[in-house]
Amino acid sequence: MISRLHKLAYLSLLLPALALAGNVDSGKELYAACAACHGVDGGGNAELMAPGVAGQSESYLIRQLWDFKKGVRGKEAGDIGGAQMAPMAATLVDGDAIADVAAYIASMPAVEHAATVEGDAGNGQKQYTSKCGACHGGKGWGNEALYTPRLTVIGDWYLVRQVLNFQESMRGVHEDSQYGKQMAMMAKTVSKDELKDIAAFLNEQSAE
Ligand code: HEC
Ligand code: HEC
Repeated sequence: MISRLHKLAYLSLLLPALALAGNVDSGKELYAACAACHGVDGGGNAELMAPGVAGQSESYLIRQLWDFKKGVRGKEAGDIGGAQMAPMAATLVDGDAIADVAAYIASMPAVEHAATVEGDAGNGQKQYTSKCGACHGGKGWGNEALYTPRLTVIGDWYLVRQVLNFQESMRGVHEDSQYGKQMAMMAKTVSKDELKDIAAFLNEQSAE
């Protein structure tokens, strides 16, 4: 009896993981349409407002692509970056396409970003550890189970912009944005200077 229960518990742990398993080869083909903005290496492009995605947490990628596709993200007034991305997510025809492209992106080696934001990394560490680390991990590497992104692969300029987007109600406000709402609450706990300090601290962490 115990072993059967054990087996069931084990299976229920495996199932969500299996549901993630997209096809990396098909994903690579789909990614050709994404590279114009996110880069062939997935390192992103600041001029196009497109974040680094290579090596990003897979569960987070899937969640975001669905959110863009369903209009949960990228539809608020003033969200210029989101408005660029939403029509691109619409070209991914179904859950398989989303899972495949996410599997490919997650498998790409993370790209190290040059620092563009200046701040006090020492204070950033204190702020980050008390306000962010519980969900995004001690080094900013994200947490698949919590659907939190890796903050070390996106680029510091994008990190600052997104926290401001959460503060300014351009993200995390849609009624179905369950995870975005969690983050929107946290975004309101930092000032702009503290945010720059956090970016400086994360710039000192390796991408992965
Ligand atoms: C026209 C340029 C463009 C193209 C092409 C494009 N994107 Fe994007 N993408 C963006 C921008 C800009 C953002 C930032 C959105 C924001 O500011 O909220 C973004 C954001 C994202 C995000 C969210 C990342 C994060 O850290 O939250 C994912 C995932 C993503 N894109 C995947 C893709 C995929 C997959 C494709 C191809 C099917 C694609 N993009 C094609 C411009 C583009
Ligand atoms: C309660 C858990 C939690 C805490 C604490 C938290 N976050 Fe988040 N964060 C999230 C979740 C969940 C998301 C994904 C939101 C979504 O699905 O749109 C997120 C998203 C983000 C994003 C968007 C990244 C991207 O790729 O678009 C940034 C930037 C961010 N968080 C920075 C921070 C910073 C800085 C702090 C500390 C001040 C912090 N977070 C604290 C849960 C948290």
